[in-house]
Amino acid sequence: MATVSLKGVKKIYDNSVTAVHDFNLDIADKEFIVLVGPSGCGKSTTLRMVAGLEDISEGELLIDGALMNNVQPKDRDIAMVFQSYALYPHMTVYENMAFSLKLKKVPKAEIDKKVREAAAILDITQYLERKPKALSGGQRQRVAIGRAIVREPKVFLMDEPLSNLDAKLRNQMRAEIIKLRQRIDTTFIYVTHDQTEAMTLGDRIVIMKDGFIQQIGTPQEVFDHPANVFVAGFIGMPQMNMFEGKLNKTGAGYAVTVGENTVIDLAPTIAEKLAAAGYGEKNVIVGIRPEHVLLKDSGPDVLKGKVDVSEMMGSEIHLHVTAVGKDVVLRVNTADLSAEKRGGFAYGSDLNFTFRPELIHLFSADDEKNLI
Ligand SMILES: Nc1ncnc2c1ncn2[C@@H]1O[C@H](COP(=O)(O)OP(=O)(O)OP(=O)(O)O)[C@@H](O)[C@H]1O
Ligand SMILES: [Mg+2]
Repeated sequence: MATVSLKGVKKIYDNSVTAVHDFNLDIADKEFIVLVGPSGCGKSTTLRMVAGLEDISEGELLIDGALMNNVQPKDRDIAMVFQSYALYPHMTVYENMAFSLKLKKVPKAEIDKKVREAAAILDITQYLERKPKALSGGQRQRVAIGRAIVREPKVFLMDEPLSNLDAKLRNQMRAEIIKLRQRIDTTFIYVTHDQTEAMTLGDRIVIMKDGFIQQIGTPQEVFDHPANVFVAGFIGMPQMNMFEGKLNKTGAGYAVTVGENTVIDLAPTIAEKLAAAGYGEKNVIVGIRPEHVLLKDSGPDVLKGKVDVSEMMGSEIHLHVTAVGKDVVLRVNTADLSAEKRGGFAYGSDLNFTFRPELIHLFSADDEKNLI
């Protein structure tokens, strides 16, 4: 059982760089939390403060309700796996995994049982007598994880454990971590800059930028209701398209105008929330995900574009279209297309489209926050 709470945690390096500002998060027992954000946003710093590898400048860290700020790393009952596996090169896989238990003077038979159990979970039993240099990157990372598992920590910390692996291995290991998580009942804090890893692994995701938390939520919540333009652009592949626009009240509800005079009526579900919040006319940023753009030839709600790139992906075509002076990305389901279009769209051809009105995102042009 391990809960982790960060209360007003701040990190100032060398009395100048503030790497993490006012970080607040309550992590439940056995929860899998992912910290995600671009390079330099403070993910590793936050994790290292939890591990005790960095001092906490301000605020409190609690594990199971006990204050940890001044507790030595070795006494926090935490295990950390890094991007660089940092295995001992002169030791076998077995010895690498057994090392921390040996230091703790755990009886030999018990060490053997734990190492073999962990090796079985990670499917590395056949490599126990090898040295790390005789292993592939993915196998080495399994050993590094195994070395952490044998300690049966209360909290498992992982800092970009997959980023040294090639794309295929990374996908495989991501699935392994999901399985691992089902077998060992521990609280996880996992750091990555990869939004796919964050979405697939996290019970909840913490999205960070410049040392500030931007949003905390389940993968579905942050995808469906991004708190601001940054989160909207960071979560989801390909990225959400953004347009400058103007919000207007209409007789029945609300509409947004984008481009010169394309007017899209907003769905009642969105209009109700805008009305409840009391919005009138307002400059906005209109967001639409590539999969929520609809091909439509004509009408007051249509934007006119020209095809730049048409990428046939099999079940979908990804289209880059120039419209209102910018690159707009569309994902079109090939099953919805006529036979002649199914193979792709010619460079330079006209392509008109609109937005699914119930899936439009609206952000304030002033502070880039989600209006609803
Ligand atoms: N030891 C240090 N001394 C001073 N500044 C530091 C130190 N370590 C990190 N920083 C700064 O703190 C900020 C956050 O760094 P951190 O390593 O936590 O980012 P990150 O989100 O893990 O990035 P990445 O994805 O590149 O690993 C950065 O601006 C970085 O330059
Ligand atoms: Mg880092």
